[in-house]
Amino acid sequence: MKRLLLLAALASTASAENRCVDCHEPQQKLLADSAHLVFGCADCHNGREEAEDMDAAHSPAADFVGRPAPSDLARMCASCHEKETKAFELSPHAAATRRGDPGGATCISCHTLAATPTAHAIADCGDEGAPSGRFQVAATCARCHSDAEAMKRSGLRIDQFAQYRASAHGYNVLEEKEGDAATCADCHSPHEAPSARDPRSETHPRNQAHLCGACHGDVKLMTEHGKDPGVVAKWQASAHARNLDLGAPSCAGCHGAHYSHVPEPAAIRESCGRCHEGPARELAAGPHGPAVHTDPATLASAPVHCAHCHDAHGGAKPLPPYGATACAACHAADSHEIAEGNAMSDLSAALHTDLVALHQKLEEARRRGHDLPSCRETLSALDARTHDFASLVHGVSPAKCAAEREAVGKESKALMGRLSEFTPGERRLWWVPVMWVFVFLGVGLLFLKARKLKSPQGR
Ligand code: HEC
Ligand code: HEC
Ligand code: HEC
Ligand code: HEC
Ligand code: HEC
Ligand code: HEC
Ligand code: HEC
Ligand code: HEC
Ligand code: HEC
Ligand code: HEC
Ligand code: HEC
Repeated sequence: MKRLLLLAALASTASAENRCVDCHEPQQKLLADSAHLVFGCADCHNGREEAEDMDAAHSPAADFVGRPAPSDLARMCASCHEKETKAFELSPHAAATRRGDPGGATCISCHTLAATPTAHAIADCGDEGAPSGRFQVAATCARCHSDAEAMKRSGLRIDQFAQYRASAHGYNVLEEKEGDAATCADCHSPHEAPSARDPRSETHPRNQAHLCGACHGDVKLMTEHGKDPGVVAKWQASAHARNLDLGAPSCAGCHGAHYSHVPEPAAIRESCGRCHEGPARELAAGPHGPAVHTDPATLASAPVHCAHCHDAHGGAKPLPPYGATACAACHAADSHEIAEGNAMSDLSAALHTDLVALHQKLEEARRRGHDLPSCRETLSALDARTHDFASLVHGVSPAKCAAEREAVGKESKALMGRLSEFTPGERRLWWVPVMWVFVFLGVGLLFLKARKLKSPQGR
């Protein structure tokens, strides 16, 4: 009611006597049933509503606008819907329409039913059955986005609706009619509808944590659905979030944008293995290759997979000692498996300690003016081998790991020897700490002496 009063106030320009209707009854009929029911014809077309004569009614002197070309249509709406119109004018939809692409969209493409595609029949978004409403919008977008003919010129895929319908989101909205999961318009602001290649787009990998996080970080909503609301924060702190430039995945990279689903446990090795080929290969070749783990809490069985040892969203290596951080979830504390985990952990730690020392040494040499390209090359080869060592760990073969550690260790030692020749100064500095010890001892003795001298007067 309040809204209607507001509409009536807004509609003050609509004159009581609208003679346009005398000659244009069909338009009036549609309009009377639309979101703009209280408006007059002149609110969009200008002209003289009180005129009985067509020429007077259509008078250019009264700025009459006839049927606008599709590319001019939005201009008719701008005076009252400035925000939506501005956003729309920036969209690929408006650009396609301006190019004359018949597949391009205008305001009426999404706000009217397919049977009455005219501005006179624009529906209130809140109306049941409104094409822009939560339950219909996917079908509205699909009118074009699932139509090969309409997508021909832009070369876009036509499977978003089909995928969405099969997803957890589509099921919630289209089948269960709950509607609190994502619709096309939640993930793509419908008016600007930017391409995911645009770094400002909410669908760009950099912004997906924000987009998906609006719901998946919402504790109340996720609790209602029995889902973990912590996934977003965990992903944000992960190596994946820090390495998007290297092609690391954001939310849609692992879950899919339209067929949003949780990978089956049996598919997780493959899902991660697309990018982490080494760990996936060695895992499959080692004792965990065929191993099936049964969760004692849920009694659910699944092949031992990546997310058992790595949090899928944490994207981080287990911390040493691995026996405690990666193996204890499934193996008994005093088992040989835990011992093997810890043994590999020590080997890995030793390799990394060597590497850190070598990098420091090379930097030291550089500061002293030695560029040493061949040492640099050797070191980056050792970096790569240490990286590959991590793959070996997935095969759970302490013997293989020990052999590799020994081989890499030898080369590290040789490189350290070469680098030390360029940083001889450090060896002559052994006396520096010794000198400091003497200085502290001296100061301490002086202090004691001073107290002894003062104390007789104190008593
Ligand atoms: C006396 C009858 C009459 C009146 C009154 C009248 N029109 Fe028309 N109108 C017509 C006829 C006939 C046509 C189709 C011929 C043409 O395109 O010029 C038409 C066409 C139009 C068109 C389509 C123009 C195009 O470019 O295709 C619009 C829009 C329109 N009228 C709006 C209005 C509005 C708004 C009013 C009131 C301010 C109005 N008319 C009053 C008879 C009338
Ligand atoms: C919300 C803005 C708006 C209002 C209000 C509006 N029109 Fe239109 N009208 C348009 C637009 C946009 C078009 C062109 C494309 C289309 O049909 O949607 C148009 C097209 C027309 C046409 C061309 C034929 C047709 O139906 O497409 C006529 C005639 C017309 N309007 C008459 C009227 C009359 C008479 C009224 C008042 C009863 C009216 N319009 C109210 C926006 C409006
Ligand atoms: C004279 C001002 C005016 C013009 C011109 C106008 N509108 Fe509206 N429109 C309104 C008002 C007022 C409402 C009701 C607002 C509300 O429901 O909150 C409305 C409602 C709507 C709605 C439903 C919004 C909702 O909240 O559900 C849509 C969609 C819409 N207009 C689209 C258009 C389009 C497209 C055009 C141009 C063809 C247009 N309007 C032209 C004033 C206008
Ligand atoms: C690609 C589809 C699409 C196009 C094109 C489109 N809209 Fe919308 N519009 C929507 C959807 C979907 C909503 C529902 C609200 C939401 O989810 O943001 C909406 C909402 C609206 C609303 C209500 C906003 C609110 O805050 O309640 C208005 C007004 C509106 N649109 C006007 C326009 C105008 C004017 C144009 C053209 C300049 C236009 N729309 C073009 C899809 C579209
Ligand atoms: C009337 C047809 C039509 C409708 C309806 C439509 N679109 Fe589009 N859309 C297009 C066309 C055509 C393009 C390609 C424009 C181009 O060539 O850049 C496009 C492009 C897009 C893009 C940019 C894709 C990219 O990567 O460049 C997005 C996102 C998009 N649409 C989302 C939507 C959503 C969401 C809806 C529903 C709310 C919708 N569209 C409704 C025709 C439509
Ligand atoms: C859960 C969020 C989400 C929903 C829901 C969603 N999209 Fe998308 N959409 C994305 C993301 C993210 C991208 C970026 C590309 C990618 O990762 O595949 C995208 C890309 C697109 C593209 C351009 C890329 C291309 O060529 O495929 C179009 C067009 C599109 N979506 C349309 C739709 C339509 C239509 C719907 C509804 C049926 C929809 N989207 C539902 C998130 C979503
Ligand atoms: C508008 C809120 C909303 C947005 C935005 C949203 N989601 Fe969802 N999503 C939900 C809800 C609610 C569910 C639970 C549906 C159910 O009960 O099955 C869900 C379910 C899922 C599931 C299935 C979970 C499971 O355990 O089966 C995945 C995966 C998912 N979303 C990923 C995403 C991704 C990726 C994005 C961003 C590209 C995203 N969602 C954006 C609300 C949203
Ligand atoms: C590296 C791949 C990967 C990335 C990136 C990723 N996920 Fe997941 N996600 C998974 C896997 C695998 C599972 C299932 C196993 C698990 O929960 O440990 C999962 C589970 C989920 C679930 C279901 C949780 C539940 O409680 O049942 C949701 C919701 C979800 N992810 C949303 C997201 C969102 C939102 C993002 C972005 C912030 C994201 N994921 C990023 C791989 C990923
Ligand atoms: C689309 C490619 C891609 C997918 C899929 C992917 N990752 Fe990653 N991952 C990367 C990139 C790129 C990095 C950062 C560079 C690096 O450290 O190798 C990374 C880093 C990591 C790291 C941290 C490495 C370190 O040195 O700290 C772990 C652990 C990891 N990913 C595990 C996973 C798991 C588990 C999955 C599946 C749930 C997965 N990744 C899926 C590309 C991917
Ligand atoms: C049994 C436990 C376990 C399983 C299962 C597991 N990982 Fe690991 N992962 C580890 C441990 C321990 C490390 C640390 C290795 C090291 O010392 O560098 C690691 C390290 C990594 C790294 C970092 C490599 C680097 O270059 O620094 C990546 C990436 C990785 N794992 C991906 C995966 C993928 C993908 C899967 C599934 C195919 C997987 N992991 C399964 C325990 C596991
Ligand atoms: C998700 C559960 C799980 C995790 C975590 C896990 N394992 Fe296993 N592991 C298994 C299962 C299941 C088997 C096969 C059944 C068995 O022989 O116990 C297995 C088998 C093994 C075997 C072969 C045992 C034999 O006697 O043939 C070794 C060795 C092993 N794991 C080492 C490790 C190490 C080291 C870690 C940590 C880096 C680890 N596992 C982490 C579940 C796990």
